[in-house]
Amino acid sequence: MGHEYKAIQWNKNKAVYDVYVFIAVAIFIGVFMAVGLQTHPSGHTADPVVLLIRALGATAFAMLTAILVIGPLARLSPRFLPMLYNRRHLGVMTFLVASAHFGLALLWYHSSGPLNPFVSLFASNPLYDSIPGFPFETLGFAAFLILFLMAATSHDFWLNNLSAPVWKMLHMLVYPAYALLILHIVLGALMMEKSMVYPIITGAAFLIVSGLHLYTGFREWAADSGMKSLKTKGWIDVGAPNDIPNMRALIAPLPKGDRVAIFRYDDKISAVTNACRHQNGPLGEGRVIDGCITCPWHGWQYKPDDGISPPPFTEKIATYNVRIENGRVFVDPKANPPGTRTEPAIISVQGRLPQCP
Ligand code: HEM
Ligand code: FES
Repeated sequence: MGHEYKAIQWNKNKAVYDVYVFIAVAIFIGVFMAVGLQTHPSGHTADPVVLLIRALGATAFAMLTAILVIGPLARLSPRFLPMLYNRRHLGVMTFLVASAHFGLALLWYHSSGPLNPFVSLFASNPLYDSIPGFPFETLGFAAFLILFLMAATSHDFWLNNLSAPVWKMLHMLVYPAYALLILHIVLGALMMEKSMVYPIITGAAFLIVSGLHLYTGFREWAADSGMKSLKTKGWIDVGAPNDIPNMRALIAPLPKGDRVAIFRYDDKISAVTNACRHQNGPLGEGRVIDGCITCPWHGWQYKPDDGISPPPFTEKIATYNVRIENGRVFVDPKANPPGTRTEPAIISVQGRLPQCP
């Protein structure tokens, strides 16, 4: 298949990206430990092992925060799309850093007594009804289990076996995991911390993640509401042909809550579902490359008129009938079965975009 049609696999781009992330992780841990030693020169937190445990935990939390802001940022600007393309690798690396934090904390705090470290983790502190003494490690453990499930199923093998909706639902657990981690930090590290810098950084991370999600969600809702008023005679009026940027799409909501991506490619217009077969990526945020609609997330491709991936691939997505009438583009909200060929609507001379001389 053409441009970038690859499932998540190693390629040069990903290897380079992983090296950058590795370097950033090493720098973050080094800076955290250096600043920690400067600001806490004595006592429990000056112990290099404790500092390393904290540094690994803080790095994993920062990485997870980055993972969660990539999605909304990519919706706000296509400049962030390359980060979305590499997000799964970042997720697996976050799990590895969190594992190092967990493993070291378990050995350091729970392996010197007579109990098995895992038993000690859950049995040594029963103060579940106390805020300052809460066994915050158990919250970290619950978050860790979720990260483990996500990392273990991150390969496309699991995506295909679990089906895209189940896989997506499983990976939405990242939000409860993030909430558990905020509590892990608030009830753990922040209870012992005197400086205000920690609560401010943790609070800012939480506000940025939730604020960006709320903002992009609101923008989509507002766009959907605006479009709904254009519904005429059962078909949806999505605007004038020139409202659709060439080689790109407009995304319109449908009465049943689905979304359709209406692509313009030169003087033709075709519509397909907005949900990519791979992981439900937003096809309407992609482009037409080499004549194929190309998903912005991982580059899967589909022909605009029949929604079928070009050979040798065989994936199919639903198409929609499109018509141009009185200078407006109308879409039939009834989806055609995946892979159904539809006649592209042809833009008349007046509707055409100016051609390059
Ligand atoms: C997804 C997994 C986890 C993440 C991302 C995470 C993250 C964090 C963060 C950000 C801190 C605060 C670091 C600081 O002081 O700046 C922390 C502290 C801590 N975490 Fe975790 N944690 C995770 C899982 C666990 C688990 C499973 C345990 C169980 C042993 C654990 C034990 C601790 C301990 C003991 C501290 C306090 C370290 C100290 O100050 O002595 N964490 N963690
Ligand atoms: S290519 Fe992965 S979601 Fe579309």
